[in-house]
Amino acid sequence: MTATPGALSPGELDTSKPLTAVPQRSLAIEVSALSKRYGEVQAVHSVSFSVERGEVFAFLGPNGAGKSTTIKMLCTLARPSAGRARVAGFDVVRQPKAVRRHIGLVFQDQTLDDQLTAEENLRFHAVLYRVPHDQVARRIDRVLRLVALEDRRRDLVGTFSGGMARRLEIARGMLHTPSVLFLDEPTVGLDPQTRALMWEDVLRMRREEGVTIFLTTHYMDEAEYADRIAIIDHGQIVALDTPDQLKHQVAADAVELVTADDVVAEQRLAAAGFQVRRDPERLVIFTANGEAQVARIVESAGVAVRNVHVHRPTLDDVFLHYTGRQIREGPAERSVAMPLRARMTRRR
Ligand SMILES: Nc1ncnc2c1ncn2[C@@H]1O[C@H](COP(=O)(O)OP(=O)(O)O)[C@@H](O)[C@H]1O
Ligand SMILES: [Mg+2]
Repeated sequence: MTATPGALSPGELDTSKPLTAVPQRSLAIEVSALSKRYGEVQAVHSVSFSVERGEVFAFLGPNGAGKSTTIKMLCTLARPSAGRARVAGFDVVRQPKAVRRHIGLVFQDQTLDDQLTAEENLRFHAVLYRVPHDQVARRIDRVLRLVALEDRRRDLVGTFSGGMARRLEIARGMLHTPSVLFLDEPTVGLDPQTRALMWEDVLRMRREEGVTIFLTTHYMDEAEYADRIAIIDHGQIVALDTPDQLKHQVAADAVELVTADDVVAEQRLAAAGFQVRRDPERLVIFTANGEAQVARIVESAGVAVRNVHVHRPTLDDVFLHYTGRQIREGPAERSVAMPLRARMTRRR
């Protein structure tokens, strides 16, 4: 939503100014006790975290968890009710213009103009963000290459698939060389293959441009691409760590056994000190280091074992562990911002 009307006026987005004032900190985002209240709704409740420069950081949580509200505060589009946040070294409340100059933003709602080509959409954005004239062509080439759309640059966006349009929006968010790129549910509504492509784009941008990426998702599996994940639920961070560490904290692997006599095996395993659950078709043993324990488990069961399967915790298990329930499914709605489209079309 890099071009939301009203929220960002072009004059505030002068990227041609020298950026020498960027403080050389290693933290791209610093958030301390940040809160946002809408009337009775505490959308974000005292969240604190920091993101290193060049990190891919994910907010994982169900609809209504407070992900978009957090992004809006970090992008200066919503005023915090309490707490502090710095982005690219600048305070989001006291230095909003500086923050806006250093960030790229792709929101849930699509804001491309269908009746312009990919290149024209980018050019429009370059003007809005005052990318210096002599850099525009080079930058457009570069971002189109970053999302592998250089062959489609002269095609109308109206002919693009949903995935291509989303990737073009991400390219647009990178056009003015932001130091932090915010992506709000970038993969909502995309098929798995397109989601994987988008992740390739994101990781390529981090590698080649050194950009810090803050994104939100409610898909468990894709949070694993992130360097670190904050699990957010009801406006609060309930866990924050690397994907591996989060899974590790959930501790137990589940070793599933199909045996000749589950009742006998269950008794013997319990007697040997294992935590066992008997399901209709199998036994499930919860233990740290499941693979290393398999031999001892089979031996302790003392009956013929027909099948063994070790199940390592997934992020679903992690979410369940921290929140006591399954993540609610059902992606956020995406809609096209009609007023902006109308306005952009009239400009032609
Ligand atoms: N502008 C707003 N006015 C009132 N309530 C809002 C507004 N924006 C968000 N909320 C509420 O704040 C909570 C968090 O919303 P949001 O940040 O959009 O969650 P998420 O992006 O994780 O789905 C929800 O209960 C939502 O209804
Ligand atoms: Mg949201």
